[in-house]
Amino acid sequence: TDRLDVDLALFGALGDLALRKLFPALYQLDREGLMPADTRVLGLARHELAVSDFRDKVSAALKKRVKPKEQDAESMARFLERIDYAKVDFAQPDDYQAVRAWREGSPRPMVVYLSVPAKIYGDICRNLEASDSLDDESRVVVEKPIGYDLVSSQEINDVIGEVFPESRIYRIDHYLGKETVQNLIALRFANPLFGTQWNQNHISHVEITVAEQVGIEGRWGYFDQAGQLRDMVQNHLLQLLCLTAMDPPSNLDADSIRDEKVKVLKALKPFTHESLDRDVVRGQYTAGTSAGQAVPGYLEEEGANTDSHTETFVAMKTEVSNWRWAGVPFYLRTGKRLPDKLSQIVIHFRQQPHYIFDPDQRSLAANKLVIRLQPEEGIALQVLTKDAGLDKGMRLRTGPLHLDFNSAFPKTRIPDAYERLLLEVMKGQQYLFVRRDEIEYAWRWCDQLIAGWEDRGTPPRRYPAGSWGPVASIAMITQDGRSWYEDY
Ligand code: BG6
Repeated sequence: TDRLDVDLALFGALGDLALRKLFPALYQLDREGLMPADTRVLGLARHELAVSDFRDKVSAALKKRVKPKEQDAESMARFLERIDYAKVDFAQPDDYQAVRAWREGSPRPMVVYLSVPAKIYGDICRNLEASDSLDDESRVVVEKPIGYDLVSSQEINDVIGEVFPESRIYRIDHYLGKETVQNLIALRFANPLFGTQWNQNHISHVEITVAEQVGIEGRWGYFDQAGQLRDMVQNHLLQLLCLTAMDPPSNLDADSIRDEKVKVLKALKPFTHESLDRDVVRGQYTAGTSAGQAVPGYLEEEGANTDSHTETFVAMKTEVSNWRWAGVPFYLRTGKRLPDKLSQIVIHFRQQPHYIFDPDQRSLAANKLVIRLQPEEGIALQVLTKDAGLDKGMRLRTGPLHLDFNSAFPKTRIPDAYERLLLEVMKGQQYLFVRRDEIEYAWRWCDQLIAGWEDRGTPPRRYPAGSWGPVASIAMITQDGRSWYEDY
């Protein structure tokens, strides 16, 4: 399984994801010496384009996306040499002869990356198979969104499953490739200190925030059909929740980890008629200010349907109904056009059973573990110490025991999520990819929530761009005597 040499066929090679993320990630792997000499990349798209023109496009994308100090001429040239291009009309079986010809006599397994809309997965998979371009180690990589609900996700998974077995399907959730997300596994399962405390006896509640400063970035067509729950919660936030809440896997194998994640998804408490009103807040941004600039509201974005009830923000309180977590609220929130790009998981530990310090400081007196994904990746444990100074007596002070990855590992570049994910695909390791049943349990839970919203038909609450979301999302947590944690 350490064999890295592959033939990578990238469908949708002129698309935004390919040029913005995938080619830069592949380039970095090459530059770091992690791509063996024989690995080759075939870009595939609908346009007629000479190979040299395609390489120019990739080269331009690299110059724009890769930091200047990481662009060295030798690595660039070597990387571009690996790249070929072919035009395919995805539905046209004859066009796949180009793929077959490119594969002719290759001893390397083929990796097929589908960076295209899900509705053409079927055509591509079937035509690849019919043209005899695949081998029995071929892998396929697919991007979210996998469907729109449970039923449509099953249809997509069925189509891929006709050609590829589950053990060779790599469903991307790029949050799983982020450095800190991986560290969550190390932190939880390598440190006895946390291992023994990680349950309802010691943890009072958990917060997961994924705040984005951007709006919908010209993706009205996609986003308005989806909304923030389908776009972010169904995948990224639930994955973070699973890694936070899961039981220790018996080893680091893909299925051991994924079995544990599935158990968490199955234990997510469904919303009831009552809790839907009390514990869930949907929002939609109106005009406001973002990073010092005036920005339009969601309904004024280009191409907008001004009647849309699609949410751009969601906050909710849920629970994992099992032995470890019963009674511990998990507060989740995510939204577009919030003040900052800030993603973090905050574990709030319980207070001591008996308190002996200044009564005014009582609310301070609990530890928090902040696992930060963005902007700077790192981990901080908030601990209480005595304030320094003769006049301070036994006054408490809260401050972080802090691990900032950039300063702890000054010589190590923190890789983009896609670099790690592509490396794992090349190695044939699935533990950072989402299994079919995970996606389906996540949809079951979301579908039920969406059905409740549709039943009610209430419009989302408004919040001005550049604020922390609807006021009701703050009330949702303060009604429990808590607040969203924004420090680090
Ligand atoms: C994507 C969503 O999956 O994740 C986008 O479709 C979102 O809407 C993006 O902006 C956020 O990713 P990151 O890595 O920038 O936090």
